[in-house]
Amino acid sequence: MNVDVLIGLQWGDEGKGKVVDFLSPHYDIVARFQGGPNAGHTLEFDGSKHVLHTVPSGIFHPATMNVIGNGVIIDPVIFAREIARIEKHGINTRKNLIISRRAHLILPSHLLLDALFENARGDNKIGSTLKGIGPTYTDKVSRQGMRIGDLDDREFDSLYSANKARHLAWASLYHQDISAIMLQGLSFAEYEQQWLGALSVIRAYERVDSEYYLNESLDNGRRILAEGAQGSMLDLDFGSYPFVTSSNTITAGVCAGLGIAPRRIGKVMGVFKAYCTRVGGGPFPTELKDETGEFLRKRGNEYGSTTGRPRRCGWLDLPALRYAIMLNGVTHLLMMKADVLNGVPEINLCTSYKVNDQYTDHMDYSVFSERVQPVYEQFRGWKQSLEGIDRFEQFPEALKTYITFLEEKTGVEVALISTGPNRNQTIIRGDMSLFGR
Ligand code: GDP
Ligand code: IMO
Ligand code: MG
Repeated sequence: MNVDVLIGLQWGDEGKGKVVDFLSPHYDIVARFQGGPNAGHTLEFDGSKHVLHTVPSGIFHPATMNVIGNGVIIDPVIFAREIARIEKHGINTRKNLIISRRAHLILPSHLLLDALFENARGDNKIGSTLKGIGPTYTDKVSRQGMRIGDLDDREFDSLYSANKARHLAWASLYHQDISAIMLQGLSFAEYEQQWLGALSVIRAYERVDSEYYLNESLDNGRRILAEGAQGSMLDLDFGSYPFVTSSNTITAGVCAGLGIAPRRIGKVMGVFKAYCTRVGGGPFPTELKDETGEFLRKRGNEYGSTTGRPRRCGWLDLPALRYAIMLNGVTHLLMMKADVLNGVPEINLCTSYKVNDQYTDHMDYSVFSERVQPVYEQFRGWKQSLEGIDRFEQFPEALKTYITFLEEKTGVEVALISTGPNRNQTIIRGDMSLFGR
């Protein structure tokens, strides 16, 4: 068996959570491989809405095992709150969630450093979610991090104190009143108290060497879906650096973040919106700062799932999409939020960029560092609602034309189209045998 991968192709929030929840019955295991609570994955079904930050989006399916892989970073406070919300819906998460012992811990002092780093950037802010992501991965790379496995170490308390002291010494270099910095609305002392208390919630879960668990599961014929967080344009290496997150969000991240060999990667499902959004700072060539952008934000409810910030909205960017398809080895495209474009008279699609009077459709270094002008092709919109449609053939001709054009330009089939936030508002082209087995 191979691991199928589901990955965001834009700047995050493509709708990964919805699709993972939809596909979960076709997999035995769903595994997160990178990122942390900067992620906000929204699931809607049976009249309720759930936002997941650390827990994989297969959690509402009791028969699906969910794995928080070694590449993920965990904030016990956020994890404990998330678990409490999920369990209210009758799920016994201790039965279908396990955690890698190699996953790193986000400390309260990581959140503090995140705030200081961000403040120090002045007008050049990343727009971080301030969940401590950058500082935690920095500690991992500089070999100073704390891991879930350390929870079983008798020296845990002194390890924590030493790391906190090191972080506070670092923080003092910023000459700011640290006591005035709030961590997710709490003082440092309050957050730390919650953090220490929440460690017992993590200790209640099975903590495993998940690389063995996953590889042995594959050997036993179990089907695994790897769930990406963020999106390819936020990838540490290939995204719009430095306006990126601190992990590899692309398919390659699955190998390092779960301990899966490259030859065991199967289908790669690339999720994208029929338009484009970004939250936080950084370049966004197709951004619309006009009433069309405002329309997309309102109709698409484009407000951050983690921070509530309004998302920047714009047209679909084909060069960026093709770049992401190349980096990830996408075998199937999944198009989300087609319904948000209902009633838009004319849809623009960016097919190339103008950079310094030259046309290009490459995302080379300069595209993210210089002013680029998008070059658009126009597509006719459609008037009717997509409500009640359950087969591709029933789509308005104009939507079919848009999808067919994207398939021609990317060379990849659009295998799934989402027409609303609900689990049921999902249209498969062909049959479900594409997914899972
Ligand atoms: P993720 O981070 O990739 O899981 O995406 P988010 O959950 O942050 O953002 C996607 C948002 O779009 C959520 O509010 C979803 O409920 C919603 N959504 C997902 N698919 C669709 C769709 O096809 N149509 C509409 N209108 N909303 C959708
Ligand atoms: P999901 O998984 C959208 C963005 C932040 C910021 C940059 C760095 O829900 O798609 P960080 O907190 O990592 O230091 O922030 O990355 N960002 C996201 N944007 N969706 C996400 O996750 C994101 N996770 C981080 O807004 O610009
Ligand atoms: Mg999100």
